[in-house]
Amino acid sequence: MSLPVIRFKGVKKIYPMEGEIVHALKGVDIDINPGEFVAIMGPSGSGKSTMMHIAGLLDSLSEGRYELEGENVSAISRDKRADIRNRKIGFIFQGYNLLARCNALENVELPMLYRRPGEPHRKEKAMEALKMVGMEDRASHQPKQLSGGEQQRVAIARALVNDPALILADEPTGNLDTKTGLDIIKLLGSLHEKGITIIIVTHDPDVGRATRRRIYLRDGLLESDETE
Ligand SMILES: Nc1ncnc2c1ncn2[C@@H]1O[C@H](COP(=O)(O)OP(=O)(O)O)[C@@H](O)[C@H]1O
Ligand SMILES: [Mg+2]
Repeated sequence: MSLPVIRFKGVKKIYPMEGEIVHALKGVDIDINPGEFVAIMGPSGSGKSTMMHIAGLLDSLSEGRYELEGENVSAISRDKRADIRNRKIGFIFQGYNLLARCNALENVELPMLYRRPGEPHRKEKAMEALKMVGMEDRASHQPKQLSGGEQQRVAIARALVNDPALILADEPTGNLDTKTGLDIIKLLGSLHEKGITIIIVTHDPDVGRATRRRIYLRDGLLESDETE
């Protein structure tokens, strides 16, 4: 049996604010196995983004234990976090987060610049990733010359390009109309069928219906965890 990609044991996150402490996660246990396609759902403020920031090594946890592919990453330095993040995790955001002055191909190349500065086949690899999302004939377009759905496809190619163990998407359809949003979810579903582990944070039930497993958070706690 292979190790879970993500294992959370009693994960807590507090944000110290002036005057009060926000308990964003209050003790969450989750295992996510290789190849799973999971939706993290729940009302606004329930801790979805916090969970995703911790899982994505963008933020540290306050208490508990997090193992990423069997490696204890609960209390590692910021630099180590960044290094593991670049190697193992691809991100997709609601607002695409593409660099405006780079074309589609250059945007997809970016994660390789950090990770493999000497990689000779960077352009070919980036082009391959653009092909996987059906955007190869838009390689030289700048983000402003692309529709929202096309920009999100480029962002998905960028998330794929380093062959990550895990893709994390926070409200990836939040800025898109219903039809385009469903196309993006279908695309993520087809990547999942190739064996990629994908976690989507969403409050949209239509998105949740597309995945096999749904985890509901409420008020910083796991409310339910259903697999079809
Ligand atoms: N950086 C932060 N500083 C302080 N409080 C935060 C921060 N990020 C999130 N929170 C709080 O933590 C709780 C969970 O937020 P979040 O994870 O963003 O929820 P969701 O993504 O489900 O809407 C909320 O009460 C929110 O206000
Ligand atoms: Mg959120």
